[in-house]
Amino acid sequence: MSNIEKEIAELAHPELPNHNDEECLALAEKLMSQMTLKEKFGQLFQLAPSNANIEGLQWQETNDFNDLIKQGLVGSILSVADIKEIYQLQKTAVTQSRLGIPLFFGYDIIHGCHTGFPINLAMACSFEPKLIERVAQVMAFEASHNGITMTFSPMVDLVRDPRWGRVMESNGEDPYLNKLMGQAYVKGFQQDSLSSYNSIASCCKHFAAYGMVEAGREYNTVDMSERELRQYHLPGYKACLDAGASSIMTSFNIYNGVPATANKFLLRDILRNEWGYSGFTISDYTSSYEMLDHKTSANEREVAKQSILAGLDHEMVSTTYIKYLEELITANEVNEALINEACLRMLTFKYKSGLFDNPYKNIYANVDQYYLTNNSRQLAKEAAIKSIVLLKNDNQTLPLKPTTKIALVGPLGKTNELVGAWGGLVKNESCVTVYEGLVNQFGQANVQFAEGCNINDNDSSLFEQAYEVAKNSDVIVLAIGESQTMSGEAKSRAYLNIPGVQNELARKLKSLGKPIIAIVFAGRPLELEWYQNNVDAILFAWFLGSETGDSIADIVSGKANPSAKLAMSFPYTVGQVPVYYNQYKTGRPSATGKYSEFRSCYIDVPNYPLYSFGYGLSYSKFEYSNLQLSKKQISGKEKLVAKVTLTNTSSIDGVEVAQLYIECKSFSVVRPVRELKAIQKISLKAHESKELTFEIGANDLAYYNIDMEFTPEDTDYIIYIGGCSNANISDNFSYNS
Ligand code: NOJ
Repeated sequence: MSNIEKEIAELAHPELPNHNDEECLALAEKLMSQMTLKEKFGQLFQLAPSNANIEGLQWQETNDFNDLIKQGLVGSILSVADIKEIYQLQKTAVTQSRLGIPLFFGYDIIHGCHTGFPINLAMACSFEPKLIERVAQVMAFEASHNGITMTFSPMVDLVRDPRWGRVMESNGEDPYLNKLMGQAYVKGFQQDSLSSYNSIASCCKHFAAYGMVEAGREYNTVDMSERELRQYHLPGYKACLDAGASSIMTSFNIYNGVPATANKFLLRDILRNEWGYSGFTISDYTSSYEMLDHKTSANEREVAKQSILAGLDHEMVSTTYIKYLEELITANEVNEALINEACLRMLTFKYKSGLFDNPYKNIYANVDQYYLTNNSRQLAKEAAIKSIVLLKNDNQTLPLKPTTKIALVGPLGKTNELVGAWGGLVKNESCVTVYEGLVNQFGQANVQFAEGCNINDNDSSLFEQAYEVAKNSDVIVLAIGESQTMSGEAKSRAYLNIPGVQNELARKLKSLGKPIIAIVFAGRPLELEWYQNNVDAILFAWFLGSETGDSIADIVSGKANPSAKLAMSFPYTVGQVPVYYNQYKTGRPSATGKYSEFRSCYIDVPNYPLYSFGYGLSYSKFEYSNLQLSKKQISGKEKLVAKVTLTNTSSIDGVEVAQLYIECKSFSVVRPVRELKAIQKISLKAHESKELTFEIGANDLAYYNIDMEFTPEDTDYIIYIGGCSNANISDNFSYNS
């Protein structure tokens, strides 16, 4: 055992005091009274040791980051996951800096720390916030036993453009679902107390509206009206902050011409003045430096000035604060009060996190025992099963009988590269492959595999072999799609096809005339029209993490029944993008959504997507009937009660996500064609019926009106309830203030 290992083995984890907010603030204020100005700047800097080449620091002699820590010039550390390294960095801060202020450690734990859960967009398809909360709790447990204090999650950027590679991290296109999921992540990560040994702090991101980068191109411009911002995009962030998120990250994009990292409207007017948020703001990686490229700052000194004035507290990677704040204060260009305010937030956070009580609280010996446990794997499997969307299932092709002879064909059939981007510390080796899963379920003798082709090249030399394997089977299971490296940050695509020659392979196999089940992996919605028209069943598997193969096999065999619904619409073609269910009403709507002259539509493709938000099949069949409203008119704070009967008309037990949408019949500004307002996930035995009850009140009807006030107006509404955003059972009511 090395000395460090011995020291780590001796660390104790006694119960920590749970200081309330006032205590933390008082402690932070007291500490600040002993701090020099430079030490205060230090708290505003997040160092990435992997990127510690810090140039031009005028008031220190070396670029060695340990020296910076000793001088009290580092507040937190980014992306270090080695527990010994974390211990050493913390020890340096605590024992060798003048005031011994502990560091906090930030890491991107997005959909898994060591246990791989499905990508976030996939889990959003569960429509089950409680599941998200449980998953986040497990991520927090693993991360908090891996030295990590804070995760940069959830990402609650609302998305509509599958070309953007980061849709995989999102909760999809709907503001209501986004809110529910965002809150669930925060609750799961932070639980009841930040000072607990099992929780981590949550930093929601990217403030604001990063999901709307033009043309889906990464790091691109965002431009939208304030109405659009408030109505669709802000609610997700607000929900996370209301749930207690410790921090919020600024986005790379501009809003209204100003980079978000120095955007006073976002960071002060909205965040502090309107919302009263007291946590800290953090820039995204180098987003401060990027103002030089945006050409809104002529130099780093200006970056620092603009950012601190606008309300940025903590700089990730960029060093403009530790370099220039002192000079700016001396020159009377920045008031010291702003630095005090930011520093106070940082220290208050550290007190809340228990770091002053035990700076080594997240450091443990023999850490493997905490990771990838049976329980966490079981939850990963549950999450994966609840994330797989059944898009098509003609003639009950699925589930397959146990004796079915399966030809598993495709480049994703036998690979474990299925974690999905932003996999944290999850290893590919933790992933069960589709092949392994099917063999576990159907037996080795019943599953033959052929790769058929690679994911993304033009080589068709393996087609013949795949054809031969498929010939001898009862059914062809295609495992196709994108590689896990084709989505995530900086992975924008201009095409939404299944890449390479995979479609040609599918066409060739189709000529055999056997049933085909396509299992499609991707980090984004893809164009699937050919598959919709030509294969028998489609399972959209996204990226499912460690339990990929077994969860797919459970669905394919019928041991599990699909229940997921799309959190993001799937276009017929990239030319329709952005295509989303809650679009505004136009002045020339097309009655059918198809081409009719001089209406708002295309001549070559319908207006609606191939699969709309909220869509997803089950092996069961569900029917909605007998919608009844408690009243035809509600007033003031009264609630409207809507009851509907949901029946499982099939002989298979199943789970349905019932969705309630409203349509406003007239308002002072144009509203979306439909707005999701409530969801319920219900289990129904074969042939069982249940009466569902929903409640709708003034707040659900409210919208930013012509004067930008969030309010309901006295008007008529239609209510729709069903299993998809095009639910067609409906009734009318009106609201009177
Ligand atoms: C850049 C990404 O945009 C952000 O989401 C992430 O949290 C940071 N890098 C830190 O890794």
